[in-house]
Amino acid sequence: MASEEPVEVVTCTAPVNIAVIKYWGKRDEELILPINSSLSVTLHQDQLKTTTTAAISRDFTEDRIWLNGREEDVGQPRLQACLREIRRLARKRRSDGHEEPLPLSLSYKVHVASVNNFPTAAGLASSAAGYACLAYTLARVYGVESDLSEVARRGSGSACRSLYGGFVEWQMGQRADGKDSVARQVAPESHWPELRVLILVVSTERKPTGSTAGMQTSVETSALLRFRAEALVPAHMAEMSRCVRERDFQAFGQLTMKDSNQFHATCLDTFPPISYLSDTSRRVIRLVHCFNAHHGRTKVAYTFDAGANAVIFTLDDTVAEFVAAVRHSFPPELNGDKFLKGLPVEPVPLSDELKAALGADPTPGGVKYIIATQVGPGPQVLDDPGAHLLGPDGLPKPAA
Ligand code: DP6
Repeated sequence: MASEEPVEVVTCTAPVNIAVIKYWGKRDEELILPINSSLSVTLHQDQLKTTTTAAISRDFTEDRIWLNGREEDVGQPRLQACLREIRRLARKRRSDGHEEPLPLSLSYKVHVASVNNFPTAAGLASSAAGYACLAYTLARVYGVESDLSEVARRGSGSACRSLYGGFVEWQMGQRADGKDSVARQVAPESHWPELRVLILVVSTERKPTGSTAGMQTSVETSALLRFRAEALVPAHMAEMSRCVRERDFQAFGQLTMKDSNQFHATCLDTFPPISYLSDTSRRVIRLVHCFNAHHGRTKVAYTFDAGANAVIFTLDDTVAEFVAAVRHSFPPELNGDKFLKGLPVEPVPLSDELKAALGADPTPGGVKYIIATQVGPGPQVLDDPGAHLLGPDGLPKPAA
């Protein structure tokens, strides 16, 4: 048991991001280098975040990690890659003469504890927030100030986009060593204050194919994926940046939906095929198109990752009516849980015209609940020592 105070304890938080131009496929499995660039929206940490504490001490005899209170195997290759990278950057910084040499602390073992403020069971991608938070927290504890894209990326490709707030692109880069495969902010979170995000958590019966294995099979078998990456994504990246810069919701929404559909088309073109969308996902897609057709323009857009949950983008003036439409099409099965979590949404009645447009074929319980959120900032350092997840002995504090 450790007897002394850890030399350094840091706690940080990091956000979830949702890609509107999807990353799918690696050209280098080891370095996690993608076959195409991608662009994402960082979600607000008030609703979804990972919190991570890292502590280093000469008393620690091995690196250890606890996720959501359970100790995990620190030997996992991706975790090891992150630890190796951060220590390499710390060594480089010191040998570059930036700081008084502190050779010992670099050899100290690290203890890491990490928790999500959202249930993993909801099937929301937590690896991006998790690895971004790990990279950011380790950088603070080891005194690394350089670009952290590489560290986060080695944990999970999409994690490098969670290092920034607002709108973020991951440039695929060209180099074999991956040095130019980095995340960059396209616009800060303050840029488009009206943009809102609704996560429709749908019931899933089975665990889908993981992204890592899924995209590997796609790269090996789908000619459509190669065509998408080489011939389509470059222009879509430029167009999506323009949509964000000019806050052009109609074009943003349309391209977001088309990119999501195209990603799922490449999954179907994978052999054996992969399918992430469920019947409920397809009903959400129909609902969005009915809603937009009723209004005569793109007021709402969907996107789906490697799972059945829908992520909806819309503007603040449309949230209440769209949530009412979701309630109409997917009458909540209330199990004492709140159907609507996150940002408050005023209940509004649906017009008879919209009800008629949506049709009378409701699916009770298809959507389990909605998380209403918005665009948010990047990782944060928490100054309050009370926020640390590790106690002075370097072990997880008992959950309050
Ligand atoms: C569909 O980043 O989870 O969410 O790099 O193998 O860890 P690995 O994959 P991961 O893949 C994310 C895929 C996606 C699209 C996206 O976020 O861009």
